Amino acid sequence: MSKIKVLTIFGTRPEAIKMAPLVKEIEKNSDTLESIVCVTAQHRQILDQVLELFEIKPDYDLDIMKDNQNLWSLTSDVLLKTKEVIETVKPDVVLVHGDTTTSMAAALSAFYAKVPVGHVEAGLRTFNKYYPFPEEINRVFADAVCTYHFAPTDESCENLKKSQIPSEHIYKTGNTVIDALIYTVENHKEEVKGLKLNPDLKTILLTSHRRENFGEPIREICNAILELVKNNKDIEVVYPVHPNPNVRKPVYELLGEKERIHLIDPLEYAQFCNLMKKAHIILTDSGGVQEEAPSLGKPVLVLRDTTERPEAVKYGTVKLVGANKDKIISMVEKLLKDDSEYKKMSESINPYGDGHACKRIVDVLKTIK
Ligand code: UD1
Ligand code: UDP
Repeated sequence: MSKIKVLTIFGTRPEAIKMAPLVKEIEKNSDTLESIVCVTAQHRQILDQVLELFEIKPDYDLDIMKDNQNLWSLTSDVLLKTKEVIETVKPDVVLVHGDTTTSMAAALSAFYAKVPVGHVEAGLRTFNKYYPFPEEINRVFADAVCTYHFAPTDESCENLKKSQIPSEHIYKTGNTVIDALIYTVENHKEEVKGLKLNPDLKTILLTSHRRENFGEPIREICNAILELVKNNKDIEVVYPVHPNPNVRKPVYELLGEKERIHLIDPLEYAQFCNLMKKAHIILTDSGGVQEEAPSLGKPVLVLRDTTERPEAVKYGTVKLVGANKDKIISMVEKLLKDDSEYKKMSESINPYGDGHACKRIVDVLKTIK
């Protein structure tokens, strides 16, 4: 019997981190599966960092990133360029990940070509179409056109059922991010190059990049950081700043060259994982970081009002603080001063996976022909 051709398409840093261990697992099963990788390169530099770490050489690189790109051109570039790849490769199945514009447009492209699509990290929802924007609609859309739904948790399976996805097309697999995290922390111990942290201070790790935080919210977050550093001499802040110019400009304007605030370039994944392990508290609006930090036993304050990842909130290791200066300051100070509150939030829990998600997905892929 001929091998099942699996075309994996991804384009941004988080998709790459979460698809890399899956690509590796597909490659391990080369007796039954043929792996073909296409990157859109919606991200360039921070995608390449991940490809290098996991030693993935894409078969197709669409190289679409433009400076300060917009959603319309991004969507049409992905749609048109993946059409050519899908027509050339003629895959048995296309895999996409999550909720980026690459995922949504690549899923649509495969659907138009009548190729079945598997959606990795299916079923996440806030049920608010503008939060996060445009990710909530991207993932609803991807789920609507996909055939195989690889959902990380019970909650995501339930969301899919509520969206009328037939139960026999839903597979609870865990999130592949935990596969990536476990592999990386076990095999790579890299320190952050060039970053000198003071061992007597507590490290607050910050990341922020969401579109709905552009403008005033990101300025409010920066102002909260300034006040926290001024009032708490025992902390220092490390912020690997996302390359999006809508983030970099206000962040460097407000936080650049301030005492005990380290603005650094985006970190290669292994270095970032090691920094998460060192951090005392993590402030973030990232999806992936919300999933990784709880399994490292780190309290996470989410700089958003809603989350599609309610599991760790339920367990108490993640709290939503929005982009609200007063809430950010009071929650960070509570964690700094109240040991019992800190202990409650730093339980190590693993609601998002056990490190075997990729194997479960591959087991399903092997049965599709
Ligand atoms: C994208 C995703 C978002 C995801 C995030 C993860 C969409 C619409 N947004 O947002 O869901 O959470 O990635 O990081 O799919 N840039 C570089 N180098 C890079 C990457 C980005 O210079 O390696 C700059 C470019 O100017 C680019 C801009 O950032 O135009 C925005 O990139 P884009 O992918 O459109 O948006 P993100 O905010 O990164
Ligand atoms: N990450 C990284 N380097 C950094 C910041 C984040 O490797 O400097 C990793 C992080 O561990 C997580 C992923 O990038 O796995 C999250 O990406 P991002 O926050 O850009 O996107 P989101 O998850 O919000 O879509």
